[in-house]
Amino acid sequence: MNKPYHRKITIEDPYKLVFVCLGNICRSPTAEGLFIHHVKAAQLEQYFYIDSAGTAAYHVGEPANSKSQFTANQHGVHLPSKARRFEYADFEEFDLILPMDASNNRNLKELDRNNRFEERIVMMRDFDPQPEDGNVPDPYYGGMQGFENVYQILDRSTKALLDELKPLIK
Ligand code: 4NP
Repeated sequence: MNKPYHRKITIEDPYKLVFVCLGNICRSPTAEGLFIHHVKAAQLEQYFYIDSAGTAAYHVGEPANSKSQFTANQHGVHLPSKARRFEYADFEEFDLILPMDASNNRNLKELDRNNRFEERIVMMRDFDPQPEDGNVPDPYYGGMQGFENVYQILDRSTKALLDELKPLIK
């Protein structure tokens, strides 16, 4: 089915995605690393520009959280992110903006106060075949099991997202 954020994807005009959470150190870096991993496995690197950002500035400049990195690395996935804050200009830049939970989604909608970009903002778990309550839970204050849970959710969701976008490649 055609979606508002669908467009033709070419090498000359790569599709741009940004994964968004609160701190840009746990969930969105994991989503970014996993999407890069799936894109590389499919040999489609030239067709995508992949980034992540946080709605808060607490951790700007930091690499992904050590528990997020450890979990991803155990599965053979690298997390290359360096935390940055989501900026208004990102609405113009990216084709698809993927908040991890309802709170991230609200923060983005507040920044997009004239609703110019609402069609580009889609919840990450809208792509999850098992969406549960629709949120990627914040693992920051919990133990390793929470990080593994986030990894599994995002592995499924990013695979399904790539499967949806692949037919747009020309
Ligand atoms: P993230 O997790 O949004 O998945 O990166 C968090 C990171 C930091 C904080 C909260 C959540 N914090 O409050 O500093």
